[in-house]
Amino acid sequence: MDVNEIIHETTERKKGEMIVFASAKGGVGKTIISVNIAVALAKKGFSTCILDANFQFGDVNLALDIQPKLTISDVIHDVESLNSDMLANYLQKHESGVKILSAPLKPEYADLITTTAIETICDKILEENGFLIVDLSSGLSEHNISFMEKADKIMLITDLEMAALKNTKTMLKTIKALELEEKTKIIINRGDMESVIKFKDIKNILNIEDLYFISDNFKVVSKSFNIGIPFVISKPKEKISNEIVNLATQFYRSNSLLKGRRRRGRRKKTGLFGVFKKSK
Ligand SMILES: Nc1ncnc2c1ncn2[C@@H]1O[C@H](COP(=O)(O)OP(=O)(O)O)[C@@H](O)[C@H]1O
Ligand SMILES: [Mg+2]
Repeated sequence: MDVNEIIHETTERKKGEMIVFASAKGGVGKTIISVNIAVALAKKGFSTCILDANFQFGDVNLALDIQPKLTISDVIHDVESLNSDMLANYLQKHESGVKILSAPLKPEYADLITTTAIETICDKILEENGFLIVDLSSGLSEHNISFMEKADKIMLITDLEMAALKNTKTMLKTIKALELEEKTKIIINRGDMESVIKFKDIKNILNIEDLYFISDNFKVVSKSFNIGIPFVISKPKEKISNEIVNLATQFYRSNSLLKGRRRRGRRKKTGLFGVFKKSK
């Protein structure tokens, strides 16, 4: 199946694929990777939206050099009557074609976003876009769990630092208890960074077979973030850009919609404590 057929199928069904980028610890590369993946998908011709779900300290705008005019805080005022045409007014378009739904302008506004609003907003975005990429905050807040439950894929990101790996292992246990393990994959970002732990050790540490590798390239990544131009645009020939493009290619090749699989179950809200009580 070629790209045009995939685009055609995805558009015809009017339901996109939702991929969330999560991590146990901050600073491991969620924003960098999710933004560049979104741009890579848009460059391939897929209608792609990125939602900045780091509701307190979102920086997707920074990574794309966009000044947010409207944010998700504005959408929630209209959420009851929201339709996809209205939603389009809240999305800002990047030159790559990626549409952005920005995080609130102030951290305190994060608390006003309900999980029901999240559900409605994601549904409306998915009606009109081939891909919804979500850049989460770190950890397992109720917001993050509701995004993870709704997603088709959860990409859990870590680097080779001991603290990140230890917390990723713990987070994987919770993901298992929430029965989200099947759709979770691990990205080892900076997989060749200086560390006592090596990429080849990770399978044993995390007890997981499927790992994606993104290389360490501080010069390219940090410059790209600071000037607000994703490296898949500014440095398309770099190894790290190729790795991102390959990952994006796997996303549309494995698009679960095309295989008719789609599960969007809702968990009774019990909080993390309830999850573990139930799974004992
Ligand atoms: N592959 C990489 N190589 C080098 N530096 C990276 C890489 N990925 C991320 N970084 C650096 O790590 C920092 C944190 O990345 P970011 O995407 O903001 O993490 P998160 O969103 O998980 O908090 C960035 O400032 C970036 O420069
Ligand atoms: Mg981030």
